[in-house]
Amino acid sequence: MKIRHKIWNSFCGRSFVILFLSGVLLMGVFYQVSAAPSFQSSDDGQDIFEVMCVSCHSVGGGVIVGPDLKGVLERRDRNWVRGFISMPDQILASDDPIAMDMLIEFNNIPMPNLGLTETDVEALLAFLEGGESVAPVVVDLPAGDFDQGEAIFTGGKVLTEGGTPCIACHSVGTFSALGGGNLGPDLTHVYDRFGKVGLVSAIQNIAFPTMQGVYEGKDLTDQEIADLLAFFTTVDVEGVEKNTSALFWIVGLLGAGALFGIMAYYWPRQRETLSDRLRKDAGITSRRHS
Ligand code: HEC
Ligand code: HEC
Repeated sequence: MKIRHKIWNSFCGRSFVILFLSGVLLMGVFYQVSAAPSFQSSDDGQDIFEVMCVSCHSVGGGVIVGPDLKGVLERRDRNWVRGFISMPDQILASDDPIAMDMLIEFNNIPMPNLGLTETDVEALLAFLEGGESVAPVVVDLPAGDFDQGEAIFTGGKVLTEGGTPCIACHSVGTFSALGGGNLGPDLTHVYDRFGKVGLVSAIQNIAFPTMQGVYEGKDLTDQEIADLLAFFTTVDVEGVEKNTSALFWIVGLLGAGALFGIMAYYWPRQRETLSDRLRKDAGITSRRHS
């Protein structure tokens, strides 16, 4: 009892106890992290596919955002496929002819780098080789509403699960000139580029690495997705027009105000200098004449 008190009371002893406890805590954290599911075994290829790839690809179910991957290992070199799955961004940036052709065919949508490990990629290759089909996830969405979708995009309406509003990182035609983040691409014509199925699929099972962290455990509801879809469908067609008409009024009003201000400020002087000049021309030297 006495000894324990002594140890605790001495400065060194206390630091030691605190250090020891922190160590135990840290070990706990590391254990948790390493115990988190990490896709290691090659049998897990399908699991990885169903988490990371299904929002953009099917196997034997047709094009979604990217190509149907049925038979991809028969039509392409295995090493090429391995490289493309591991680092599509670098392959696309290297002007690889196959990747370039695909990029054009798939509406200029680059496959994002999903940060897969070598083991993940091998598991995926094994899975794609197996020829198992994976159909696109079909969702029956409720009817969407443009105004609700706009409010969700801008953060006027809070997402049910608390996800960040899209405008933090994206702009669309309607808002681009007035703000909207630019960490992510402009989404004005995202409906046209992704198509309905692709867009729903990509938002529902978020397919973009930067967004995945932010929306982890904060899935959008079907109603929210439907409203966003209604919003994107409209801005795709009207984005620029809406933008110009809304901006027209704002810029017009601001411009008119500024013009009046400038006129009020400069006109008297302008008149003065003009009259000065006229007087000079007429040979009158005094500025003021009675
Ligand atoms: C955000 C959508 C998206 C996600 C997620 C995605 N891809 Fe892709 N993928 C594409 C697009 C689009 C292409 C076509 C090339 C391009 O435009 O970059 C493509 C091309 C490919 C190709 C080449 C196909 C061919 O015909 O040569 C392979 C292989 C591939 N993806 C595998 C995967 C795998 C495996 C995953 C999951 C780990 C995945 N992709 C996740 C969009 C995606
Ligand atoms: C934290 C920032 C962030 C937020 C918030 C965010 N996004 Fe994204 N989004 C990105 C980034 C960055 C990309 C580009 C791909 C990548 O790097 O992951 C992207 C890509 C996209 C794409 C593909 C666009 C293309 O042209 O390839 C769509 C669609 C999309 N986001 C929709 C949304 C929607 C809908 C919301 C709101 C519900 C949203 N995003 C919220 C950062 C964000």
